Amino acid sequence: MHRENRGVSRRAFLQSAVAIGGASALAACMDREDVSVPAGVEDPGSLPSRQHAWNEHLDRDDAGNALPPRHHALLHLEYDGLPTDADRETVTSALRTLERAYEWSSDGLLFTVGYSPAYFERFDADLPDAVDLPEPRPLSDFEDPVLDDPDAIVHLASNHASVVLEAEEALRGNRDAANDVAVDDALTDVFSVAERRSGFVGEGLPADNQDTGGVPDSEPVPEDAPLYMGFKSDFEKSQASEDRVTIQSGAFADGATQHVSHIDLNLQQWYEQDDRDSRVAQMFCPAHADSGAVERTGENLGDSPRLEDCGDPAETASERGVVGHAQKLEGTREDGEPLLLRRDFDSTDGGNAGVHFLALQREISDFERVREAMNGDDVSDSTPVGRRQNNGIRQYLSVTHRGNYLLPPRQRRALPTPEGADA
Ligand code: HEM
Repeated sequence: MHRENRGVSRRAFLQSAVAIGGASALAACMDREDVSVPAGVEDPGSLPSRQHAWNEHLDRDDAGNALPPRHHALLHLEYDGLPTDADRETVTSALRTLERAYEWSSDGLLFTVGYSPAYFERFDADLPDAVDLPEPRPLSDFEDPVLDDPDAIVHLASNHASVVLEAEEALRGNRDAANDVAVDDALTDVFSVAERRSGFVGEGLPADNQDTGGVPDSEPVPEDAPLYMGFKSDFEKSQASEDRVTIQSGAFADGATQHVSHIDLNLQQWYEQDDRDSRVAQMFCPAHADSGAVERTGENLGDSPRLEDCGDPAETASERGVVGHAQKLEGTREDGEPLLLRRDFDSTDGGNAGVHFLALQREISDFERVREAMNGDDVSDSTPVGRRQNNGIRQYLSVTHRGNYLLPPRQRRALPTPEGADA
C-alpha cells in the first residue's frame, strides 16, 4: 500500500530513530540521511542574546508562516549543590561546541537551555520581579499531571534527525566530534540526564507515525498533516512575536519563560464519529465549518486562521452547542497579538499519540491565563456546551505532565544565580 513508498518509510525510520536515541540510532540515521549539515559560527558570542531567536532562521511556507524544525528532543537534567565556576565553564564549553558545529538554523541545530523553579530554590536570593516562574500546577479540574521538576531542560531541534541525535550524544559525552568539530566538554560532566523525550512536527510525519495508541486502526491522519489532529497550527497571525514573549528588563532581559506539558491524544472519536465539519468547528469555530473556510489542513488560510470571522464564543456556544478551540483563545490576545509563541510538536512517547506542548511567553501567568480561557468554564456554565464535550478540543486531550522553565539570555545560560550573575 502507499505507505510502503520509499520516502514514507524513510521518514518513519528517521522519526523512530530519534524516539529511540543513542549511538546506534545515530549511526543508522547518518547512513540513511546522508546530508551535509552547514557548520556553525567561529565565534558563538556573535549569536543572538535571545536563545529563542529562532524565527529568522526557520524555513517558511508559501504564505510566509515559520515552519518548526521537524525533529525534536527534550532532555531533563539534574544538578547537585551550588554551581561552581568550573561547572559553569564546562556548561559554556559544551554548548558553544554545538554552536560551532551546527549553523543556527533548522538545517543545522536550534536549541535552548532552561532552568526550573526547583533549580533556583537552592539559592538564598529570589529571582527578580521581572521573572515570573512559579512551580507548575494542574490547570484544569480534569487533570492530575506529573509536575516535572528537573533542574534544567535542553530542547534540541533540527530538520535532520541525525543532527538532533548527534548533538545529544555530544552533550552526553559520547562523541569525540560533532559535525567535524571536536567535543572537549560534555554537559553530563556536570549534569545527569534524568529523562529524555522526543517528537516531530511537519508534513507527513504524523501520518507516518499513526500506528500507535490513541489513533484508530483505520489510519485516518491525513498524509499531508503536520500534526496528528489534521490541521496546521503555525499561522503567523496566531503566534506571539519573539518580542512579545521576551523578558524586557533586569538580569534576565532577552530571556523568556517556557511551559512544557505532555498531552496524550485520544483521536478515536475525533476521526471515527466526528465528521470533518465538526472537526473544523471544534478546532477553529462553527462559522468556519459553515463557510468552508478551512480546506484540507488549512493551507488556504494563508498566514491567519481568520478568527475574527468566528464571532463571540458565548453566543456561538448558546446557539450551536459547540465552541471552537482557537475561537475561545482569540479572546486572550493583547493589542491584537496572541500571548504565546507555540513551538509544540507531536510524539509517540509512552506508546501513545501525544503532543509536547512547548510554549514561550514573557510570564508563566500569561500561559496560565490562556489555558484558563481554553477551559472555557464561563461558556460551559451558561450554555449547552459541556465542560469538555464540544468545548473546543478539550475532550480529546489528557495532560500527563507539566513543567515551567526560565530560558536565560544566552550569556547567562550556564548555571545562573537568581541575580543572573555567573558567579
Ligand atoms: C494539543 C493539541 C492542540 C492542537 C492540535 C491545537 C491546534 C490549534 C490550532 C489548529 C489553532 C488555530 C490556528 C493556529 O494555530 O495558528 C490553535 C490556536 C491556538 N492554540 Fe491550540 N492546539 C492545541 C492545544 C493548545 C493548548 C494546550 C494551548 C494553550 C493553552 C493552545 C493555545 C492556542 C493559542 C494561544 C492559539 C491562538 C489563538 C489566537 O490566534 O489568538 N493550544 N491551536
